[in-house]
Amino acid sequence: MADGEVRNKQVILREYISGFPKDSDLYISTEKTMPLKVPESSNGVLVKNLYLSCDPYMRLLMQKPEGPALFTPYTSGSVISGYGVAKVLDSKHPDFNKGDLVWGTTGFEEYSLITTPEIESLFKIEHTDVPLSYYTGILGMPGMTAYAGFYEICNPKKGEYVFVSAASGAVGQLVGQFAKLMGCYVVGSAGSEEKVDLLINKFGFDGAFNYKEEHDFDAALRRCFPEGIDIYFDNVGGKMLDAVILNMREHGRIVLCGMVSQYNLDRHEGVNNLMRLIYKRVLMKGLVVFDYYSLYTKFLDLVLPYIKEGKIVYVEDIDEGLESIPAALVGLFSGRNVGKQEK
Ligand SMILES: NC(=O)c1ccc[n+]([C@@H]2O[C@H](COP(=O)([O-])OP(=O)(O)OC[C@H]3O[C@@H](n4cnc5c(N)ncnc54)[C@H](OP(=O)(O)O)[C@@H]3O)[C@@H](O)[C@H]2O)c1
Repeated sequence: MADGEVRNKQVILREYISGFPKDSDLYISTEKTMPLKVPESSNGVLVKNLYLSCDPYMRLLMQKPEGPALFTPYTSGSVISGYGVAKVLDSKHPDFNKGDLVWGTTGFEEYSLITTPEIESLFKIEHTDVPLSYYTGILGMPGMTAYAGFYEICNPKKGEYVFVSAASGAVGQLVGQFAKLMGCYVVGSAGSEEKVDLLINKFGFDGAFNYKEEHDFDAALRRCFPEGIDIYFDNVGGKMLDAVILNMREHGRIVLCGMVSQYNLDRHEGVNNLMRLIYKRVLMKGLVVFDYYSLYTKFLDLVLPYIKEGKIVYVEDIDEGLESIPAALVGLFSGRNVGKQEK
């Protein structure tokens, strides 16, 4: 190893996958070394990663790329990337200085050279009187997703009926709490009794059900929403989306945020009830969080006081060390995480 170089522990994708991911699809390597300086030819930043975020979209990058994608797909045999919180060790970029704390896209490794901070949407962390890990979740990409989807797309009004799927996760827990603060009636679905309890007793949802115990989603939704649903924040797609469509009220809004129930399927399930959207004049819109990053300061102005006043609570599931990432990432698809998954 040359002078000033360090060994860089990394999480590597073994090979492109199909179907459900396994821990063994990823492995830890300490083969690479790197200098702790930004090369002369670059105007990037060199960071030490402090928290790394396991997010469902990462599964889509683990398969062989087909057609246009929102993120650069992973390369088999190479380090994976995702959202993280990091400390700048060296910078040749005018917007970042040594010692800055940042969040944005980084490598799943101890040290990363981020060559294009603008493209990776690297944000400087200005408020450090909250836990730093929050910038992988409630104050980072998932938080912005909840904010943009709920306020910008769903156009919520006091008293409306709101349903959130994958409701105990990073995005869902915040959507539900935003809806309660707005004076809406909120029900969430999640995959265990423990999570159902969390939704009602920690996040203040009006109702919740364990979708794994429901054989008829339509009946479950009719039970929870006898008057129908005004807003559906869809994190799962598939059969749940199809059942929700049957229960939408006139002029309802559906935000298509994610389809985690479909990410591991080679052939996606169809949605059969779309014609109902016409009769009910329902708006259904896809959400891509990057489109709303210009609202980040406005989002912080809303959320930080809520956190500090205890009006919004946040549950995260933190594991220690890069070695924990394969199991944590794979665990997202069996619902192992309770709250936002990080390492
Ligand atoms: N559009 C965007 O810009 C954007 C940005 C961020 C996230 N998203 C999407 O938003 C959704 C939620 O993300 P998140 O970060 O909040 O994830 P998360 O909820 O923290 O983690 C994923 C959760 O999905 C649930 N799940 C896994 N497999 C499922 C299945 N087959 N059916 C139903 N639920 C299943 C599990 O909870 P249970 O135990 O409840 O099953 C798991 O804990 C994801 O679909 C994600 O891709 C979209």
